[in-house]
Amino acid sequence: MTKRNFLSLLDLNPSELKSLINRAIELKKAPITNNFAGKVLGMIFEKSSTRTRISFEAGMAQMGGSAIFLSPRDTQLGRGEPIEDSARVISSMVDIIMVRTFEHAKIKTFAKHSSVPVINALTDALHPCQLLADIQTYTEQRGSIEGKTVTWVGDGNNMCQSYINAAKQFDFELRIACPTGFEPRSDFVEANKDRVSISNDPQAAVKNSDLVVTDVWASMGQEQEQNERVKAFANFQVNHELMGLAAKDALFMHCLPAHRGQEVSSELLEDPNYSVVWAEAENRLHAQKALMELLLN
Ligand code: CP
Ligand code: NVA
Repeated sequence: MTKRNFLSLLDLNPSELKSLINRAIELKKAPITNNFAGKVLGMIFEKSSTRTRISFEAGMAQMGGSAIFLSPRDTQLGRGEPIEDSARVISSMVDIIMVRTFEHAKIKTFAKHSSVPVINALTDALHPCQLLADIQTYTEQRGSIEGKTVTWVGDGNNMCQSYINAAKQFDFELRIACPTGFEPRSDFVEANKDRVSISNDPQAAVKNSDLVVTDVWASMGQEQEQNERVKAFANFQVNHELMGLAAKDALFMHCLPAHRGQEVSSELLEDPNYSVVWAEAENRLHAQKALMELLLN
């Protein structure tokens, strides 16, 4: 059987994604299994993480497997051992690998040389695992996301680009409101222009939306642009005033960590009538267990 990777939502077909979400909801109700007995997950992190590390590590433990945390600081990856060589060696000793890195090309090279499935745990281009948790959360709270309207407010970053792929795979309309110069990559938009639109008017974009999503204005690796970005994004905060324009039962999501008072107001983040960010974070655990099950089988 050929090995499968999950570098992007496009690596699974819509029906596999639907089953995965259902399985995640099921696993949430019965979290302890022995399905990964003897299996080992390698976890390569070149950027910081709270949710991703804990959810993968706890997920393996709950399903009878184990995980090894690998940081460039204490592996040869950080001293320049080629990715190709690292992929061959690491994959000869573990059953599945997740990678959080900068350039998307790096995870593609890694996956090409790995003999076991590779999961994208965030690159500069995409964060597909977060989308599994987001779709699970929407489904649990409001039912299927198919045919709904989702608005992304803020930076056209890795999360925004993952939402573009999600719009295609889960069949919803995506409106993106971002400042000029901070749009998502044009090839993502171009490939999905039947369901994705871009503007720099958050008020108009959010109107009657079923889900409003945002993320930090400066992603990991862009810390030196923070001040410049705070100015450029000043009119793109998601708060009660903006959410008031969305549909009556609209939800708010943010992958976290959040900067209260910047991309989201503290009041909105803490308002359980709109904000489902804590369930969204927890669902990383359940969704990734379902993902690893699919890839390991
Ligand atoms: N949302 C998310 O991926 O969080 P971490 O950076 O804490 O893993
Ligand atoms: N866009 C953010 C997501 C963090 C989970 C980043 O890349 O830093």
